[in-house]
Amino acid sequence: MRVPIIAANWKMHKTVQEAVDYVEQLAGLLAKGNVETVICPPFPLLGFVAEACRQHGLRLGAQNMHWEEAGAFTGEVSPLLLKDLAVDYVIIGHSERRQLFGETDQQVARKVKAAFAYDLTPILCVGETLHQREAEQTLQVIAEQVRIGLEGLDPSQVRRVVVAYEPVWAIGSGLAATGADAQAAAKQIRKTIAEIFSLKAARDVRIQYGGSVKPDNIVDFMQQEEIDGALVGGAGLDAEVFASLINRAQGEVVS
Ligand code: 13P
Repeated sequence: MRVPIIAANWKMHKTVQEAVDYVEQLAGLLAKGNVETVICPPFPLLGFVAEACRQHGLRLGAQNMHWEEAGAFTGEVSPLLLKDLAVDYVIIGHSERRQLFGETDQQVARKVKAAFAYDLTPILCVGETLHQREAEQTLQVIAEQVRIGLEGLDPSQVRRVVVAYEPVWAIGSGLAATGADAQAAAKQIRKTIAEIFSLKAARDVRIQYGGSVKPDNIVDFMQQEEIDGALVGGAGLDAEVFASLINRAQGEVVS
């Protein structure tokens, strides 16, 4: 049984006080349930919210990391430091990192491997651009990103990965994919993993949908059999909105 997982990716938002207030407010608004809730603040805020997250049963995630433990890598953050800060998850290969910062599939693969070396769970982001979608390359692009991103892992690691299907055109656009689109992408992800690794890994891996997820459409995604949660940007910035999104999702989860 896959435990549903919903994560808020704050991207480059919030100050220290805003972050601390958000965690307290969110914790007070969440209904009991079995959706694993993850908060992914910018790096400097991790240490400020870690303890409150732990107390309230929220999981902590980072938005990126380097693959090396230490060294002359100005501006980068080590997986060892993330572990030291009690981080559980790390988003890897977000389309903003790929598109704005030139991250390649090969770098993504090194980071995913490094996450396991430091006992962090990677949230591997995949998804097609509008151009690729219009050229009907969606399933091919997703399969390729999954294949390269997971290269070098063994099946027992792959089954613990979270894959976030985030079509680039749906991010921040207000134009979410349909539940059926997300389901088709998730099937493709499981098929690819089954072919390369094992059927068990393909069944166990958790798959999120991301891209304009809101309280109004979360239920559509949670109702898809192959979708196990969401990676949320804008709607994860306000504690009330994010709590309402999670509480609606809890209602869809059969415990
Ligand atoms: P939005 O929810 O703002 O579309 O962002 C999605 C996203 O990029 C989450 O990682």
